[in-house]
Amino acid sequence: MKVLVTGATGFTGGWLARHLVRSGDAVRALVRPTSGAAADALRVAGIETVTGDLCAAASLAKACVGVEVVYHIAASYRTAGQSASDYREVNTEGTRRLVEASEAAGVRRVVHCSTGGVHGHIEDPPATEDAPLAPGDVYQDTKLEGEQVARAAGESGRIEVVVARPIGIYGPGDTRFLKLFRLASGRVMIGAGKAFYHLTFIEDLVEGFRLCGTVPEAAGRTYLLAGPRYTTLRELVALIAAELGTRPPRLRIPVWPIWLAGALCELVCVPLRVEPPLYRRRVEFFTKSRAFDASRARRELGFAPQVDLEEGLHRTAVWYREQGLL
Ligand SMILES: NC(=O)c1ccc[n+]([C@@H]2O[C@H](COP(=O)([O-])OP(=O)(O)OC[C@H]3O[C@@H](n4cnc5c(N)ncnc54)[C@H](OP(=O)(O)O)[C@@H]3O)[C@@H](O)[C@H]2O)c1
Repeated sequence: MKVLVTGATGFTGGWLARHLVRSGDAVRALVRPTSGAAADALRVAGIETVTGDLCAAASLAKACVGVEVVYHIAASYRTAGQSASDYREVNTEGTRRLVEASEAAGVRRVVHCSTGGVHGHIEDPPATEDAPLAPGDVYQDTKLEGEQVARAAGESGRIEVVVARPIGIYGPGDTRFLKLFRLASGRVMIGAGKAFYHLTFIEDLVEGFRLCGTVPEAAGRTYLLAGPRYTTLRELVALIAAELGTRPPRLRIPVWPIWLAGALCELVCVPLRVEPPLYRRRVEFFTKSRAFDASRARRELGFAPQVDLEEGLHRTAVWYREQGLL
């Protein structure tokens, strides 16, 4: 099957593109002109690359030619020094352009990568796909808009759309969770650690995406793709500390002064288009509960995560050490 993956120069899309190659698909990746070495690495892995941008409709039309399934993974996500309109241009309008280009090219199905973050803080854990939608920041707002745009196209009947909401993606290649590993081997914990956190190992997640792209009955459905279990942050930090052979931090500092510092950093940095050293979404990691029930994906897609939390943390720590990051 000929497939297109967006975001393949990033962490999740890169893993997915390679997983699909191993599964026998002919994979094309949309890469930005600035993607550099990551795009070279895709070509070495047997992935065709086409240059384009979610903000440039003509490039998406070219990328979709001859494609049967589009896996739309790209998003504006890791950077915080952006305005709301920057996020919207990529996560909402970029999705609209890609879905329109897919329809025009006769693509059969779009798998749209959203986020479990569209549910915001989970009041009543674990949340299913039907839990209230309560995005808590501009990234989550625009991810929700993106999935609404994609779903509306699916409802038109012109194209199949499957919405996947991944939860806390981690594993080799990701550096987002490095901060938590460093915190776990330090002395100070932020907050009480009572909030829930839910991780999904990258290998399990990309198989979940493949199932979203291939199971016929998935058309029109929305799936949470989450790992085998969730823990409190305190338990998670203790598991990481055990993996690193250290003691979990014993000092606890309150969250609110750090949250305030994050808000101030955003206030100063965002208008200057500078990446803030600290921002509220990062601090809210310590206060918002995220705990999910992925039984719909298990039942309907056969999604069956294989990597338990201890094993996933171990494999991630090994990679961090290999990279000299820990
Ligand atoms: N990581 C998590 O825990 C998590 C959890 C839930 C959902 N998600 C979702 O999962 C997806 C992947 O996340 P990730 O952590 O793997 O992200 P990532 O590593 O930051 O990768 C983002 C990708 O999007 C591409 N991109 C950004 N803007 C683009 C544009 N205008 N046109 C074309 N491509 C563009 C980037 O290309 P360049 O290489 O050129 O920058 C990169 O390939 C995102 O949709 C995110 O919202 C992530």
